[in-house]
Amino acid sequence: MGQKKLIKFAAIKQYENVLENPQGMPGKWNSFFEKLASGPYPISLDELSVIKNNTSTNQSAIKPLTLELACGRGEYTVGLARLLPAQNFIGLDIKGNRIWKGASIANKEGLPNVAFVRTQIDQITQYFDTNEVAEIWITFPDPQLRLSKAKKRLTHPKFLRLYQQFLQPGGIVHLKTDSPNLYLFTKTVIELYGLTVITATDNLYETAFMQSDNWNQKLAIKTYYEGLNIASSNRIHYIQFKIDQDLPIEKDEILKEMIAEFEVTETHDAKRERGIKANEN
Ligand SMILES: C[S@@+](CC[C@H](N)C(=O)[O-])C[C@H]1O[C@@H](n2cnc3c(N)ncnc32)[C@H](O)[C@@H]1O
Repeated sequence: MGQKKLIKFAAIKQYENVLENPQGMPGKWNSFFEKLASGPYPISLDELSVIKNNTSTNQSAIKPLTLELACGRGEYTVGLARLLPAQNFIGLDIKGNRIWKGASIANKEGLPNVAFVRTQIDQITQYFDTNEVAEIWITFPDPQLRLSKAKKRLTHPKFLRLYQQFLQPGGIVHLKTDSPNLYLFTKTVIELYGLTVITATDNLYETAFMQSDNWNQKLAIKTYYEGLNIASSNRIHYIQFKIDQDLPIEKDEILKEMIAEFEVTETHDAKRERGIKANEN
C-alpha cells in the first residue's frame, strides 16, 4: 500500500467524524452529532443516548439525518451540510482514503453536522434504527452493468429493502448518475414495484426546475466522479423517489427477465466501467 494511503488511514483513525464499522449505533446518531459539536472528546459511543424517533418527548431536538451512499470523497455530504446547518449528514463508503478527503474538509471548516462511516453498504442496516434516516443520496455509484452484477447496483430491490428498514415513512431517495443504463434500470425498478417517482430527468442541468434556487443549490453540487465525465454522455441523470411500497421478492425474477433485455455489451457505459477500473485508487 502506498505511503499516502497509509497516512490517510492513520489520520481518519484519529478523526472524531469518521467511524469504521461502528457497533451499537442505531438510535444514537442525534446524540453523536450533539457531542461532535460540543465534546467532550474522544466521543465514547457507549455513553451516547438512544433516541427513538417516534417516541421521544423532545422531537424538536431531533435533527433530520441524511445519508450519502458510495460517497467517495463526500462532496454531497459536505455540500449539503454547508447548505443545511440544522441537519445532520453521514457519508458511507468502503474506501478510507476517499472518506479522508471529505472528513478533512469538514474538520477544517468546523462542520459539526458531518460524519463518515467506513463500511460496506451491504452492512448498512447495522448502523441505523427504524425511522432514523430522513433521506438518502446515491451519487454516481458504480453502474455494475453486467447482468450477473445487477444485485450490486445500489438501487436494486435487494438494497432498497435494506434502506426501507431505517428510512422514515415518506423518506426520499435521490440518485444522481451519468449512466443511462443505471438510470433506466432504476426507473424499471420503481415502475415494477409501484414506488412513487417525485422527479426524473435524463438531462438534469437542462431542466426547468434547475432554475429554482433551492434545487439549484442542492443539485448543482458536483462530485469527483461527475467531474471525470467517464461515460462521455455529458448528461447527468437524476431520479428522486420514495420507497413507499413493499418490495415482494417474487417480483425479482420478473425484474431479472426485464433487465436481461437491455443488458449492454459495449456502450459508453461499459467503457465507463473500464475507465473506473483504470482510475481506481
Ligand atoms: C464511482 S465512485 C463514486 C464516488 C462519489 N460518489 C463520486 O461521485 O465521486 C463509487 C464509490 O462507491 C464505493 N462503493 C462501491 N461499492 C460499495 C459498497 N458495496 N460499499 C461501500 N462503498 C462502495 C467505492 O468505494 C467508490 O468510492
